[in-house]
Amino acid sequence: MFSTIQGFREARFSAILKCGCLFVINVVLTEVTFLSIRSRFWTTEAMTGSPSMQRAFSVVGKDSFGNDYIENLKQNDISTEFTYQTQDAATGTASIIVNNEGQNIIIIVAGANLLLNTEDLREAAKAISRAKVMICQLEVTPETSLEALTMAHSNGVKTLFNPAPAIADLDPRFYALSDVFCCNETEAEILTGLTVSSPADAGKAARVLLERGCQVVIITLGAEGCVMLSQTEPVPKHIPTEKVKAVDTTGAGDSFVGALAFYLAYYPNLSLEEMLKRANFIAAVSVQAAGTQSSYPYKKDLPLDLF
Ligand SMILES: Nc1ncnc2c1ncn2[C@@H]1O[C@H](COP(=O)(O)OP(=O)(O)OP(=O)(O)O)[C@@H](O)[C@H]1O
Ligand SMILES: *[C@@H]1O[C@H](CO)[C@@H](O)[C@H](O)[C@H]1NC(C)=O
Ligand SMILES: *[C@@H]1O[C@H](CO)[C@@H](O)[C@H](O)[C@H]1NC(C)=O
Repeated sequence: MFSTIQGFREARFSAILKCGCLFVINVVLTEVTFLSIRSRFWTTEAMTGSPSMQRAFSVVGKDSFGNDYIENLKQNDISTEFTYQTQDAATGTASIIVNNEGQNIIIIVAGANLLLNTEDLREAAKAISRAKVMICQLEVTPETSLEALTMAHSNGVKTLFNPAPAIADLDPRFYALSDVFCCNETEAEILTGLTVSSPADAGKAARVLLERGCQVVIITLGAEGCVMLSQTEPVPKHIPTEKVKAVDTTGAGDSFVGALAFYLAYYPNLSLEEMLKRANFIAAVSVQAAGTQSSYPYKKDLPLDLF
């Protein structure tokens, strides 16, 4: 996770950003193969000076998944200062079925995620204001995500928004609050109503999203890499990647977003294109192993030239 990425301990790459509270139940052809914790939510990177901290903002249930979730964060050196346990709902879960082609179906039960509220955020205001990057998704209520993005934005913290799972009538404030808006093909289709099945299509959809007020739009395209464009360079650019044989694509999007957030936080001077090439590479590593968080490489196992 992030802090560990920076301290470069044993942490998994992407969990960094995904602090969330979905407990993943991976199922391969109906046989439960393992349980892992998918942290999908947001974290902030505390800035400057003191050792950088990755934080998980989440609510989990007072149940065994919740306990395991918190234990996992601790094991990965992620601060659990703002991870709360509640009696009022069960820990959110994501049940994942993976087929022989490595493609997946995910059923999400948000559970306690929906109890994270703006009051919880205000308690974390200081940590948020000192972050480098704030990642938000739609696995908590939109109001909570909007407030988190607003708090980050007004403090000059870079915001990275991943509209997953996508909703067609996304509140327009999400676009204006996103320094980087990063979605996959399906999400781009839902948000724009356009068909997205090629890099050229993705460029068109990204343009529509850019016009809604984001600073940068990135659409991920599986084995095709991604497409980017920005207010300063509004011509779509395709960043291809080396295609790999997918074992399990679950979590590829999160791995990509996680890696991107890492570069935004720690290598802010890299060009966006270079960050995306590296994020493509890291996400490709994750699709070659089973599971979600378990598929994320440790920094020590990645090529040195990524850092
Ligand atoms: N077969 C592949 N070969 C190489 N890279 C891949 C492959 N599949 C995914 N990737 C990498 O992962 C990134 C994200 O993949 P994708 O667009 O499928 O995200 P996603 O649909 O959100 O993933 P998820 O399965 O987690 O929902 C891609 O931009 C690419 O960098
Ligand atoms: C994109 O992400 C959503 C989750 O928001 C997922 O349901 C969908 O399958 C993904 N699309 C692709 C093409 O992988
Ligand atoms: C990024 O570039 C700016 C301006 O050139 C420089 O002041 C800063 O130290 C650089 N930051 C890093 C992390 O390299």
